[in-house]
Amino acid sequence: MDKYLVIGNPIEHSKSPFIHQSFASSTNQTLAYEKKKVELDQFETFIQNFQRIGGKGCNITVPFKERAFAIAQELTPRAKAAGAVNTLSFTDDGTIIGDNTDGQGLVEDLLRQRITIRDKRVLIIGAGGAARGCILPLLEQLPSSITVTNRTFEKAQQLVSEFDSSQLSCSELSSLTNEFDLIINSTSASLSNKLPDIESRVIASATCCYDMAYGNEPTCFLRWADELGVQKTIDGLGMLVGQAAESFRIWRNVYPEVASVLVELRAQLT
Ligand code: ATR
Repeated sequence: MDKYLVIGNPIEHSKSPFIHQSFASSTNQTLAYEKKKVELDQFETFIQNFQRIGGKGCNITVPFKERAFAIAQELTPRAKAAGAVNTLSFTDDGTIIGDNTDGQGLVEDLLRQRITIRDKRVLIIGAGGAARGCILPLLEQLPSSITVTNRTFEKAQQLVSEFDSSQLSCSELSSLTNEFDLIINSTSASLSNKLPDIESRVIASATCCYDMAYGNEPTCFLRWADELGVQKTIDGLGMLVGQAAESFRIWRNVYPEVASVLVELRAQLT
């Protein structure tokens, strides 16, 4: 049976085994997908061993995405742009291919929820790994602009300078205008129940606010956006399922049905 893993540290709460097993059953595929906690000094050895025993692929999560990038022998353009890998594939000739499906997961979720990206003005809050991973897939949807803003402005400048796109620019948090259609919170602030330091008028004028974080209730960022009258607020659960679906497609050559898994996961959260 083809073997897959999600690897991270910690990993106990990973929903990936549930998601991939659901995909396997809905597409009539036979495969094994498990989670595995790997010690910090064991990542590379573990991957080599898993490949040796015939593993077909891995999802990689915190804190190993950059090391998965380094171990890959071939990288997709979006993995190169992300500087991080969340999907490894082991080919029959022994090559390790690294991809990053996080940004595509975000785009798929937005499109599934009928949020248009084309010709829209997008604001990304945050300039860490999560922001870096979604820039290329978002640019491919041809927005009129993407602005990156961040608490530490130099990091936003650095991130933007890594891409060759006239659509992409950065702005300080304090000088943002209320001109955005779609605002994506990629910061880890929601995880500690904090809001990025942005003026309400910037948020209030958006049509949609998206938070890459999710939980059993709306994040504080999404509650704030709701209170300000933003038409549509979306959390990152669909992005999680979307990135998994894209990994599944890469490995199994079939795109699974996402909506029913999302309903089940949402029910598990509450
Ligand atoms: P990830 O890989 O999840 O993006 P990261 O690379 O550590 O994680 O980046 C975290 C991002 O969240 C950064 O943009 C960080 O801002 P700084 O660069 O200024 O540190 C942002 N962030 C974290 N906590 C925040 C907070 N309380 N308010 C605003 N931004 C915050």
